[in-house]
Amino acid sequence: MKRILVTGGAGYIGSHTLVELAEAGYDFVVVDNLCNSNKESLHRVAKIIGREVPFFKVDIRDKDGLSKVLDEYSCDACIHFAGLKAVGESVAKPYEYYENNIGGTLVLIDVLKQHNCKNIIFSSSATVYGNPAVIPITEECPKGKCTNPYGQTKSMLEEIFMDIQKADPQWNIVLLRYFNPIGAHKSGTIGENPNGIPNNLMPYITQVAVGKRKELGVFGNDYDTPDGTGVRDYIHVVDLAKGHVCALHVLQNGCGLSIYNLGTGRGYSVLDVINAFVKVNGVDVPYSIKPRREGDIATCYSDPTKAERELGWKAQFGIEDMCRDAWLFQKNNPEGY
Ligand code: NAD
Ligand code: UFG
Repeated sequence: MKRILVTGGAGYIGSHTLVELAEAGYDFVVVDNLCNSNKESLHRVAKIIGREVPFFKVDIRDKDGLSKVLDEYSCDACIHFAGLKAVGESVAKPYEYYENNIGGTLVLIDVLKQHNCKNIIFSSSATVYGNPAVIPITEECPKGKCTNPYGQTKSMLEEIFMDIQKADPQWNIVLLRYFNPIGAHKSGTIGENPNGIPNNLMPYITQVAVGKRKELGVFGNDYDTPDGTGVRDYIHVVDLAKGHVCALHVLQNGCGLSIYNLGTGRGYSVLDVINAFVKVNGVDVPYSIKPRREGDIATCYSDPTKAERELGWKAQFGIEDMCRDAWLFQKNNPEGY
């Protein structure tokens, strides 16, 4: 396997994955419509890897546009990051989420098939477990009820991929269920660059630390967790990126349909993350306790042993590395890209 089509490659996880793909000796071509990213991320990737990143500003719903890219750059596999991902926005704009994430993926699958490229890695999410039946969460844990259209698109797309692989066993499909990616490349040149007010914990913390926001709201301290705040499995984005390279190896060996959790197996509360951030970076993060956020669950962390066993992948970085690297990117790029 030589060349990989990376959809959504200008985004947060995509840009970090390009670096790891280059490191592992893969070629790639990126398509992204830049609806939630900036071409600058690809210039920064180019600096890190020492060569240009082939990029096309193409929407995955544009069949002709995608086809042209694959005519010019034949690919052996696709890593499919492109999608809308804001939970709250998906509640307000369900049609846009279904149309972009599901509609776009169906077009992509069709074009890949026409180009005889039947190998794909899909960015799924721990959100498909809903309020998980067991903790730590294994891949056998039944999928739960998603409380928002974003989560529904991930859950439905998983079903679609399963049906497609069942009907045509030539497809090799890896569904990666990410836990909570945070942090940034150690160079501090690429990182998470949300538009507007961040929805997620770490970008909110870094924006408070850099003085862009006054204080962090901690959403609830009355959960059934050790300190009452929500517990999540934060994973360094570089570890997550490396997981995709490992998944390419199993695709290459003809894996059929495989599902893996990508997490660390450790849960940290909101207060744990704030304390680690303050300790490792020596900056203040003022916060106050706010009501619970609708749709949040108390605890969510993975059992990552299947990925270790079958992919030979294990997260290497700890919470302090994640906090240090997230801060380095924010400090170096106070206004983002
Ligand atoms: P991101 O928004 O930074 O990256 C997604 C990229 O896809 C963006 O560059 C965006 O411009 C592009 N895109 C969106 N719709 C497109 C379309 N129709 N055509 C072409 N490009 C399009 O998000 P991310 O955090 O890097 O997430 C990547 C993937 O991982 C997404 O599918 C997301 O749902 C999934 N995921 C993310 C998280 C997380 O916490 N970041 C957790 C679980 C799953
Ligand atoms: N939190 C706060 N204050 C904030 C933001 C978050 O206290 O300003 C808390 C939340 O209540 C939660 C924890 O921090 O307890 C993590 O929240 P995030 O929004 O960072 O992450 P979530 O676990 O809610 O969701 C994320 C992605 C989803 C994905 C899920 C599982 O946003 O898309 O991880 O992978 F599905």
